[in-house]
Amino acid sequence: MDIKAAHRSDLPALIALHDAAFGTPYEGRLVADLLAANLDAISLVASNSVELLGHILFSPLLVEVDGEAIAALALAPLAVMPGRQGQGVGTALMEAGLAQARAEGWDAVVVLGHPEYYSRFGFTAAALQGFAAPFDGPAFMALELRKGALSGRRGRIIYPAPFATTDAPAAALAI
Ligand SMILES: CC(C)(COP(=O)(O)OP(=O)(O)OC[C@H]1O[C@@H](n2cnc3c(N)ncnc32)[C@H](O)[C@@H]1OP(=O)(O)O)[C@@H](O)C(=O)NCCC(=O)NCCS
Repeated sequence: MDIKAAHRSDLPALIALHDAAFGTPYEGRLVADLLAANLDAISLVASNSVELLGHILFSPLLVEVDGEAIAALALAPLAVMPGRQGQGVGTALMEAGLAQARAEGWDAVVVLGHPEYYSRFGFTAAALQGFAAPFDGPAFMALELRKGALSGRRGRIIYPAPFATTDAPAAALAI
């Protein structure tokens, strides 16, 4: 399996992947909207010699801590092709994406997704306890890449426009 940066020309294949993995049009549309707004900070594809296996996207997210913006990313969406799930592709994309985010100096990553899946990578809902945001509950989680970036701090989180225009119910933004 090969993991590399996604190309703009991959967009139709990425939309088809997310449509197939989620069974809804919301995530594919979100990818298209984030790319159109140049918000694809980290966009990685996993593939083998014959097919696209998975995709992960991270976009800049406004996270204010004590009135000042930190360098935060929203992780959404992540999908692996049906039939290729449960074979480590999602884990490999997560690890590569988080490694790149760390290397680039991002402070934190925020996700709305399955708690059991993202807790494997260190995401917790507790990290967001002090933050006003459009989501809450156990599925709304964050991972600090810089220690102390979020935990015990107060602030607010504002999602960029593409997240508001997907018409997706909050649950559909998960993963
Ligand atoms: C979720 C997803 C990205 C994980 O990628 P993957 O390549 O299948 O996952 P990996 O092979 O790296 O990891 C598999 C492990 O994660 C667990 N896992 C997979 N999906 C999970 C989920 N939704 N919640 C909790 N755990 C999950 C598996 O049980 C497996 O556990 P094991 O290692 O103990 O056997 C992928 O399954 C996917 O694209 N799913 C479709 C999108 C989706 O989940 N939609 C649900 C509605 S929001």
